[in-house]
Amino acid sequence: MGAHIIDGKKIAELVRAEWKARADKLIQLGTQPGLAVIIVGDNAASGIYVRNKVKACNEIGIYSEVHAFPANAQQNEVLDCIQALNENSHIHGILVQLPLPSHFENNRVITSIAVSKDVDGFHLYNVGALVTGNTIFSPCTPYGVMVMLERNHIPIAGQHAVVVGRSNIVGKPMAFMLLEQGATVTICTSKTRDLLQFTKNADILVVATGKPRMITADMVKPGAVVIDVGINRLNDGKLCGDVDYQSVKDIAGYITPVPGGVGPMTITMLLCNTILAAERAQSGG
Ligand code: GUN
Repeated sequence: MGAHIIDGKKIAELVRAEWKARADKLIQLGTQPGLAVIIVGDNAASGIYVRNKVKACNEIGIYSEVHAFPANAQQNEVLDCIQALNENSHIHGILVQLPLPSHFENNRVITSIAVSKDVDGFHLYNVGALVTGNTIFSPCTPYGVMVMLERNHIPIAGQHAVVVGRSNIVGKPMAFMLLEQGATVTICTSKTRDLLQFTKNADILVVATGKPRMITADMVKPGAVVIDVGINRLNDGKLCGDVDYQSVKDIAGYITPVPGGVGPMTITMLLCNTILAAERAQSGG
């Protein structure tokens, strides 16, 4: 029997409908949630992500504004912009699209965002809060994965979760969020010796490596939950994940497709975090 396919698009639509009701309520109370996006340079992929974020904000009723800086902008100009946004009561969420040009210090920029407006959850204080089980904002991609597991009633406590990839944006926060829900967690990296010995023992396997189709059927335990965070563009223009979907779908218990899996969840969770930030501001907290 083939795997149950986790439909990220459908779950994203359901979650957006629920949170749109919360945004509508805030608007009735006189607070329209607001998101500011800062983009530096002309990275093509970043430009597409930012446009998609703005479009999603419009659809759900979030006010959004984009602050675009040229690649040769000075860090201080961006810090000044963030400072003004921190003080702007119409803006509840601030996001700096990564990567920044190499002359920028990522942490200097991200830690200048007010903790209460850091809807990406990348501020060092928010990272510490997440790791200690006091989450303020969950980083959007792993948050989306957790919601996909929850909506499919997939148990986490006591399960062996293996996360392949240790990025600050996905792998590390993913591991801590699974740990917080009671999973036994292993984090693998590109340096892991004998990766298969780990992946083969995973009840829940989350893959975020950026290596097209690197997880093959022989690396997966029959019946496992396989979550593919990768989005890779092949030479023929087609998209594929980090998991070899065609072979793994016959052995896994659950699998996310690419496209249409984790992708639609990431922006959805950004919308949720922005509405949450606005709710907190509205209620004076
Ligand atoms: N670049 C790639 N993913 C992300 C993300 O989730 N947030 C931000 N700010 N930049 C990114």
